[in-house]
Amino acid sequence: MVAERVDMGGYTLIENAPLGARNTLRVNARARLLAEVRDAAKLPELLDFPAVRQGKLLVLGEGSNLLLTGDVDGTVLAMATRGVQVEQEGDVTRIAVAAGERWDDFVRWTLGQGYAGLENLILIPGTVGAAPIQNIGAYGAEVAEFVESVEAWDTRERRVAILTRRDCAFAYRDSVFKHEPGRYIVTAVRFALPRTHALRLDYAGIREELVRMGVDKPAPFHVAEAVVHLRSRKLPDPAVIGNAGSFFKNPIVDASVGEALKREHPELVAWTGADGRWKLSAAWLIEASGFKGVREGDAGISNRHALVLVNHGQATGAELWAFAQRVMAEVREKFGVGLETEPVVV
Ligand code: EPU
Repeated sequence: MVAERVDMGGYTLIENAPLGARNTLRVNARARLLAEVRDAAKLPELLDFPAVRQGKLLVLGEGSNLLLTGDVDGTVLAMATRGVQVEQEGDVTRIAVAAGERWDDFVRWTLGQGYAGLENLILIPGTVGAAPIQNIGAYGAEVAEFVESVEAWDTRERRVAILTRRDCAFAYRDSVFKHEPGRYIVTAVRFALPRTHALRLDYAGIREELVRMGVDKPAPFHVAEAVVHLRSRKLPDPAVIGNAGSFFKNPIVDASVGEALKREHPELVAWTGADGRWKLSAAWLIEASGFKGVREGDAGISNRHALVLVNHGQATGAELWAFAQRVMAEVREKFGVGLETEPVVV
């Protein structure tokens, strides 16, 4: 079926739109209506169409944190807005970035400008607008530390909302945007970046990688390069094999639960948080349940990293979700620990 495409000035509407190229798990689902938004100011007008108002709404960036289990019987908003505004204030640089900008392009641009902070977060797929939603994090840093505020269209109050970092209620892979799904459409993120700051080198592998690179006085761009090496070795490239990065969050449990598990399984990998609770390595739990590299049809767990659900080719969203649920059931059965998914499952 040929998709009908209409340019509305500021956004384009496409009927019965294929989504296979718009989600990194490469699920060939379709959307009843797809709206490519290039001008966030047009959102109220777009959301007011009866066809949009009546159905479900799904906001999409690069689709790198999403599992579509079937077709979307509603509207998919693909945020394609662009733009970066910089304001210098003493040692701090404030940068407002449109939601549709690619996260990794933005990180590389900041490093090129000599701003510090985002170096550990290089090479994470996705858009800038998606970054605060799950509070992306890697190698000992989280985006929350650098977010000053988030601008969003509040679909409930029907107005532009500015959420401060505190309003965003950031936590491990979590924020207000996950607590109130569907309420906010992120349109821009305002970052505050320092010129210099203490580099995060403590996460496993970074110092060793810097030594391998022959760097003894690292600058932010050296740390970024080390992270690029580490990620490229460990995580499958979505351009090569369909995946959405970590598919499961590392579960957080009470210390008593962690200690009991550790007694039973001394090899268990876990970290203690500031609050005394334990964060368990979901990758370890999944690998110890025998799933690393396992494949069922075209759905499977990566042989490189046990947290990553992969599509070897033609797996449907339903098949991928069934396989993920099998993994979760097996981990619960073996260790008594429930896993939560990191991507949005639709
Ligand atoms: N491990 C295994 N088997 C594996 C992989 C890892 O047992 O197949 C164990 C190892 O002991 C390893 C430990 O797990 O030392 C930690 O592995 P890793 O450093 O890869 O970190 P992670 O906790 O598995 C988290 C993030 C990643 C992020 C890395 C590095 C979550 C859900 N995932 O993974 O984020 O890149 O740390 O900071 O917190 C993502 O969110 O999409 C993502 C890739």
